[in-house]
Amino acid sequence: MAVRGRQRNQIIFLTSFLALLFLYCCVITSHQGEQQASPRRTFLGVGDVSALVRMTEEITRAGRVPLVATVNAAYLPMTLSWLCNTAAMAGVHEQTVVIATDDATHDALRRRWPTLRVFRHATQADMATGLGFGSNGYRIYMLMRVKLMLALLRRGVSLTVFETDCLWRKNAAPLVGEVATSTGYDVIAAQNGAERHLGNYSAGFLFLNATRGGVGVWSEMAKRLERGLKGTYEQDILDGLCKARHGGARCRLFPYEQIADGMWYRMTEEARRRLLPDPYIINNNFIVGVEQKMQRARAYGHWFLAEDGDTCRPAKPG
Ligand SMILES: *[C@@H]1O[C@H](CO)[C@@H](O)[C@H](O)[C@H]1NC(C)=O
Ligand SMILES: *[C@@H]1O[C@H](CO)[C@@H](O)[C@H](O)[C@H]1NC(C)=O
Repeated sequence: MAVRGRQRNQIIFLTSFLALLFLYCCVITSHQGEQQASPRRTFLGVGDVSALVRMTEEITRAGRVPLVATVNAAYLPMTLSWLCNTAAMAGVHEQTVVIATDDATHDALRRRWPTLRVFRHATQADMATGLGFGSNGYRIYMLMRVKLMLALLRRGVSLTVFETDCLWRKNAAPLVGEVATSTGYDVIAAQNGAERHLGNYSAGFLFLNATRGGVGVWSEMAKRLERGLKGTYEQDILDGLCKARHGGARCRLFPYEQIADGMWYRMTEEARRRLLPDPYIINNNFIVGVEQKMQRARAYGHWFLAEDGDTCRPAKPG
């Protein structure tokens, strides 16, 4: 009996060992898949992005830099408002790709703006709800977005990452310029206005060049975000990498006068006239909560969606 028992223990041990080995191999292969041209779907990996690549390449072929926003159901009204905001601005919608992370958002965007490029990205986690800044869901969402952008960069697509919770006072597309224009930067980012004297990089409006420097910065971003999932933010990592010229990357800031942030809403009229006389974009940040953002936009006439939540209404941007 004792011998039989020992044999059984050995068998159990061997089976467990083989099972672990098998799991380990799965992890290794899926990680390799992530680094190769067609990533497999793994936890926090990105799925098949070939349709997204095609969409961005159509825009690049027209000599323009794709504007890419990632949107979930909580951000749908904000996105619809931004689409109304920019509908009359030459070429903006044509230059835009919206990545929808749930079906309802994808379908609503397609129905309302049939010619807009909308990519449905399949995520494993429930990405439809409002994700509070700093929450675990928010971090996972950010990491997923960073990885999607990295997948595009690695396929040679330069792009501008932006968020739809903003006001475009005028067409900001020329800010980045034509792909062909030679300005020689790897990263061009909006500034964090809270401490303007520090020239801090923010990640709300960001041009990423598909250069060695650009890919280097962004893959390090993905690595650090994933490693420090609990305590690191995109903008802090970007700020550190750019200021350290990571891998020789050439970074530049957009002048604050061109792309303002939520500090605009907190400024006096006098400060606005002095610091931000005529910005292209005012990002509606430095406020927590989607509902709060929408209320603020409405209060300032920065809301372009009619009461029916569908049609556009004229607004007077301030
Ligand atoms: C992106 O990189 C290319 C190749 O180095 C360069 O010619 C181009 O000027 C860069 N784009 C910007 C906007 O800096
Ligand atoms: C701005 O940058 C400095 C230096 O990199 C950093 O110490 C500081 O925390 C940053 N502030 C914000 C608000 O990101």
